[in-house]
Amino acid sequence: MGSLEDQIQQLKQSRHAVILAHNYQVGEVQDVADFVGDSLELTLKAKSTDAEVIVFCGVKFMAETAALLCPDKTVLMPDAGAGCPMANMVNAQQVRDFHAKYPGAAVVTYVNSNADVKAESDICCTSANAVKIVNSLPEDEIIFLPDQHLGAWVQKQTTKTIHIWKGFCPTHQLFVPERILELKAQNPGSVFLAHPECSPAILALADAVASTSGMSAYARDHAGPFIIGTEVGMLYRLQKENPDKLFIPASESAVCPNMKKTTLEKVLWSLQDMKTVVTVPAEIRERAHQSIERMLAVR
Ligand code: 13P
Ligand code: SF4
Repeated sequence: MGSLEDQIQQLKQSRHAVILAHNYQVGEVQDVADFVGDSLELTLKAKSTDAEVIVFCGVKFMAETAALLCPDKTVLMPDAGAGCPMANMVNAQQVRDFHAKYPGAAVVTYVNSNADVKAESDICCTSANAVKIVNSLPEDEIIFLPDQHLGAWVQKQTTKTIHIWKGFCPTHQLFVPERILELKAQNPGSVFLAHPECSPAILALADAVASTSGMSAYARDHAGPFIIGTEVGMLYRLQKENPDKLFIPASESAVCPNMKKTTLEKVLWSLQDMKTVVTVPAEIRERAHQSIERMLAVR
């Protein structure tokens, strides 16, 4: 029997499968993937692939998005228990109740949300396109959910009135301004890159605010050293793409436990057993799908 990687490659071919991995996945899963990217890129890859099976190495909302866009494909999650706590901070009834307070507002939902919440939404966005999506809408009043920090960051860049749901990412809450200042002082000339899920106090210290793949593009074009204000898995990709540059985690503790549930073994078992298949209930599928397609039409 060959290595785990070899077995995965062989099975991938016989199953006509593609492996998509988020930037926060462990290094060996990133290495075995056909494509590594941020939420928007993975959504686009899922939509455009001609593979019959998508092995989605990420968290549930990402695999659900792929399932919504690819009804004819089998979407597998190597660990179906990989959820996103932020996505679970709002449910469909709460969206309806919030909307009832601001009936004229358009509902813009970060893709880090469950499919039933997407079904209540006018349009989705990711961290890469949130400002563009909000500004593309005819409404001057916006409901933004579930991430309060991404919502506040968008508010700074638009004249529209945004009503923000108070969700957050527990991993991106872990950054502390004092530590960033300390790292900046220790690394003269360093550039601090922060994800918009970080708190306003952290974003105020950032040299650039970007999605995970936005960070990768930024690092390619600049010398660094870089202090990275997002989940630590991102450093693996950055270091691999830029072996001669220095990347420093803004916090060693910024680990998303759910992103780390997927292992190489689970990727192999997933292809062997064709498990776990991700589906979206029929009664919400069409509406949730529409909110993603509307986003892709603007991008
Ligand atoms: P990106 O779309 O920037 O990769 O972010 C996804 C995510 O879950 C951030 O916590
Ligand atoms: Fe969710 Fe935060 Fe993990 Fe991203 S890093 S998947 S927002 S818990």
